[in-house]
Amino acid sequence: MHVIGGTASTALAERISRELGNAPFGIPFVKRFPDGEMYIRIGGRLEGDDVVVVQSTPSDPALLELLLLEDAVHEAGARRTFVVVPYFGYARQDRRFFPGEPVSARSLSRHVELDADAVITVDLHSPTTLGHFTKPAFEASGIPALARLLRERPIDLLVSPDKGGIERVRRMAQLLDRPWFALEKRRIDSDKVELSLPPDVPAFAGKHVALIDDVITTGGTIVEAAKLLKRHGVGATSVACTHGLFLRDAFERIKAVTDEVYSTDTLENPAEKASVAPDIAQILLRELASK
Ligand code: R5P
Repeated sequence: MHVIGGTASTALAERISRELGNAPFGIPFVKRFPDGEMYIRIGGRLEGDDVVVVQSTPSDPALLELLLLEDAVHEAGARRTFVVVPYFGYARQDRRFFPGEPVSARSLSRHVELDADAVITVDLHSPTTLGHFTKPAFEASGIPALARLLRERPIDLLVSPDKGGIERVRRMAQLLDRPWFALEKRRIDSDKVELSLPPDVPAFAGKHVALIDDVITTGGTIVEAAKLLKRHGVGATSVACTHGLFLRDAFERIKAVTDEVYSTDTLENPAEKASVAPDIAQILLRELASK
């Protein structure tokens, strides 16, 4: 078996190769042609082997690199290709909100699975995206990785910034054996949200609270949540998310109003302290053994 790490996921791919018993690991050579088109090339002998390609798709070049990588692996004669997309871009457009729009999540699922025997991803925006794949597709959770990290911290209480995250915070609460609650959120636009405390929340004044989210993009949600908790006397605030996109100055703005910021390594960023490699490897090992 071989593991190939695209440029958006090199470190995580190497961690996955270690979890798979130090499977041979490689990275592609990537350059641009003079007209701007992407050129990639992979090394190593892959004929008849199982190959794991790891590449998050937070940007269009990363997505294009993944598609080219899959084709290169196919051309190299791989027996089976397992495509790991730790952060699956375009998953937020998971339905047609207005006439004339695409269902981007479906379109990308179809393209990504084209040269794959199976696809593995982590904490999709919506579980419906898994249903768009026609080949085996699996979703790992970032929660166990974050729980392994938060278990070492003196956290008293867990909070989801919105009701959509209830299942996530509930799972974390079970793993850490802590109480939890969810804030009420109203999105004003893509950069602005309004948050409020629901009635009957557990007392948290002076306590250490961890805000749990699946993705941090502009940071608007977490900054507002941290400010709300502060106004009500929270003692300390940690932030933990699966996917840390941290657009523009999001990381600095969050750091300014919280005490600790953690993410998993589905995306490379300054907060990536919890690895999903063991959770992805567990699925890979099961699927590799199944056929
Ligand atoms: C919302 O449904 C998600 O769980 C995140 O809370 C949200 O997408 C974060 O976005 P931002 O960082 O831009 O507020």
